[in-house]
Amino acid sequence: MSEPGLEYGYCQKYNKKIPLDENTVCVHPHEYCRFRPSCLIHELGKQNRLRQRQQKEKIGGTLYAIGVGPGDPRMITLQAIDRLRSLEMVFASKKEGVSESIAYTIAEKYLPASSQVQFLEFKATYDRDEFDAIWAENAKKVFEVLKTGQDCGYITLGDPSLYSTFSHLLRNLTKLSPGVRVEIIPGVTMVTAASNLLNVPLAIDGESLTLIPSAQIDEAQLRPLIRHSDNLVFMKIPSDAQMLIKNLEEEGLLHRAIWVQKCCLPDQRVMKELDKKTLEEDQERYLSMMIVKKEGMS
Ligand SMILES: C[S@@+](CC[C@H](N)C(=O)[O-])C[C@H]1O[C@@H](n2cnc3c(N)ncnc32)[C@H](O)[C@@H]1O
Ligand code: SF4
Repeated sequence: MSEPGLEYGYCQKYNKKIPLDENTVCVHPHEYCRFRPSCLIHELGKQNRLRQRQQKEKIGGTLYAIGVGPGDPRMITLQAIDRLRSLEMVFASKKEGVSESIAYTIAEKYLPASSQVQFLEFKATYDRDEFDAIWAENAKKVFEVLKTGQDCGYITLGDPSLYSTFSHLLRNLTKLSPGVRVEIIPGVTMVTAASNLLNVPLAIDGESLTLIPSAQIDEAQLRPLIRHSDNLVFMKIPSDAQMLIKNLEEEGLLHRAIWVQKCCLPDQRVMKELDKKTLEEDQERYLSMMIVKKEGMS
């Protein structure tokens, strides 16, 4: 028992002192308790649950994360198109120093003429705190719109669940508002678009497949991944890809690698039977990935 105005209440059933605040709930709300009718903790818990539900309901807008596929206009889903047609406000990320947002270019033609776009800038930094701070700011911008009750979209290349900035946005948005409503619309990934373009099955039978964010791992991490997987997909290839090239060559796999650049875009490029010299001379790495299949391909 406790008196109104006190900082703590006392659970008589479990003999516990419980802080009284906006998070207070009954110690065991689903169990029978003979003290319940007169228990302040239980009463406060009911009020807290009601307030949290009302807060959730107040967040009127839904955020739609829309995967727009790899860039070929025929590879966007009907669900994505339907949703884009309904949105008056969309967000898209834009890397610092890059003038275009390919994802927005794909989506633009489906949006109502009256719709607005806001680009969320980010910096490709390995400083985790700096990166989180950028996405915390971006999440605030999206939350400002959702708070008004307006639905909005977040457009992302490929699929929202694969190395997408959407994950950073969602993590921060959930911190701001745990009850935020989100719907995710899947897209064709770069990985499947490239493998199908090349007629290369990503994995068959008992084979394993490993996706490697090349720019974000070091040599010690890379070696075992290369050795122990049957199929490898290298994404996020850094401008200085020396370490990657060296390791593939040392493992006798470089000649098996297929390099795909700007897949599904008008200036798509495919390079096969790679060697070190060609890759060292050809420094064009923007929107590139590599597929290496150890078996089954000549
Ligand atoms: C941030 S990830 C985005 C992946 C995307 N969400 C998906 O579902 O495929 C970006 C990486 O995907 C690859 N990528 C993106 N667009 C590409 C393209 N058109 N051609 C080849 N690789 C591409 C590159 O490796 C790039 O570094
Ligand atoms: S209602 Fe809950 S908080 Fe109150 S005495 Fe019973 S178990 Fe404890």
